[in-house]
Order: sequence, then C-alpha cells, then structure tokens
Amino acid sequence: MNIIDGKAFSERIREKVKSHVDNLKKNYDIVPGLAVVLVGEDPASKVYVKNKGIQTKKAGMNSYEYKLEETVDEKTLLELVKKLNDDPNIHGILCQLPLPKHLNEDMIINTIKPSKDVDGFHISNVGLLNTGQKSLVPCTPLGCLMLLREFVGNLEGKKATVIGRSNIVGKPMFNLLLSENCTVTVVHSKTKNIEEICKTSDIIVAAVGRPNFVKSSWIKQGAVIIDVGINRVNIEENGETKSKLIGDVDFENCSKFANAITPVPGGVGPMTIACLLANTLVACCRSNNLKEPEELIL
Ligand code: GUN
Repeated sequence: MNIIDGKAFSERIREKVKSHVDNLKKNYDIVPGLAVVLVGEDPASKVYVKNKGIQTKKAGMNSYEYKLEETVDEKTLLELVKKLNDDPNIHGILCQLPLPKHLNEDMIINTIKPSKDVDGFHISNVGLLNTGQKSLVPCTPLGCLMLLREFVGNLEGKKATVIGRSNIVGKPMFNLLLSENCTVTVVHSKTKNIEEICKTSDIIVAAVGRPNFVKSSWIKQGAVIIDVGINRVNIEENGETKSKLIGDVDFENCSKFANAITPVPGGVGPMTIACLLANTLVACCRSNNLKEPEELIL
C-alpha cells in the first residue's frame, strides 16, 4: 500500500510554477497577479486565504487580498469584482466560498471575467470543461487528477466512483475522469447502494464532507482512494479533547485494502493551492498571448 504524498508532489508543481514565473519576469517583465476576495470572518476561509497569499508570493507572483465585512452589500462586492476584471495587473480572481447567505454566489462568480476565473467556477468555464474544450479547471479536482495520473498512470477503462456532487469538486471531477476515458459513477446522499458501487471501483474520489464516511468494507482490493474531505473533529486523547483534521475516508482501515491512498492532511489539500498557482500562471500566459506551460495544463 502506498500513501500518496500530496505535499511532496505539490512542491514539485510549485517549483515548476516558480521557474515559469521567473522566466516571465526576466524575459517579458510580466508578474502574474492573483486577487483573493474574502467576505466575513469564517475561520476556515481565513486560514485558506492566508495560505493562498503566502504561497502566491513564494511562487514569485503578486498577491492582492481584499477583505470585506460580513455585511457588505452585493453592489459593493460586484463593483470590486468588475474593478479587478479591468485591472491589467491582475490575471486571476478568486472569491473565497462560502459567501454570506445574503449574497448571490452564482451571480458573483459569473461576474468574474472567465479568463481570470482561476477557480474555474464561471458557467463559461464549466461549459467548456463539460464539452472537452480548453478552460480553466477547478483547482481541487485538477489536483486529484494530477495525483491519479502520477500514481495510477493511464486511467483509460478504469471504473471510477465520485462520492459527492458539488459544483466545486464532484461535478468537475466527473468530467475530468470521463475525459480520461474512465467509466464514472457519481453517488450522493440519495444513492441507494453506495457500498456496492464503491466495491467494484478501481478509483474512489470521496468529496462529501463527512468524517470517516467511506468504510473499509466498501473498498475493492487494490483500489486507489483520493480523499478530498477536510473535516475538523474533536477527539478524546489521554483524557483531553483535541481538535484534529480528518478526511471522508476511514484511512486506517481502508488503507489495508487500497493500492494507494491520500492522507488528510497532506494529500489533496496542498494540491489545491498548487493548482491555483498553476491556473494563475496559465491565465497570465493566455492573457499575454504567450506559450502556456504544457506540463501544468491538461
Ligand atoms: N471554498 C472551498 N473550496 C474552495 C475553492 O476551491 N475555491 C473557493 N473560491 N472557495 C472554496
């Protein structure tokens, strides 16, 4: 059984991104810029945004952070997005989700210029991915696919099950695996026989947001498991309550049957940020009519 080291793999991607960024600077005097918009005080979102800023700068890019009050009105946020759309120094725009309930998430995402939509959430990028055309691909499923290509190799003909049907992970993951010629099943909260479907799968991508949801009895011998879940739970250890991050997969028991499995933390998580940096670089190259870094796109 192999534990897939997403941290090490993501470092390799970030190094490649950095070397392309250095070349852009040297040869064209261009520095890719990523704008991240955070609304409100969600603690997990604040951590993600901080990490994105740190990694963006480490890759040699410019990072711009916009922090708005929880109560910000939709007009103000839309005006900020439009200003960023028009700013030539900004090549990627990301609006950290979830947004407060009073804001229309779809409308805000669809106001981002598709060529700067480094999350790949704009309907135009969703449609391009769905029809197999060149797009910006959502970072987490892109990271999962990179891991699968690296650790499985050719995915053609593999039976893959995606657990969860979110716009951020499940649906784009389905499209990416399908374009690799996998036979893909998407299961969700209303699916009747998840266990049997998983049991026949060569690949499982779990993205449900429920700790330890995937059990060892669901795993076919030799399967490859990608765990997208990041669940904060409290556990009792030596009479103390500790907060811990765990995935959607019962790692300890499932790993006995899997050929390869991603841990949480240290699996998919670091890949998401690496892919965000890769997408920002790609967006920058495209907007300047420069050759795209082949090894960082699909
Ligand atoms: N919230 C959780 N995951 C993501 C993501 O990939 N992008 C954005 N913008 N928000 C998120």
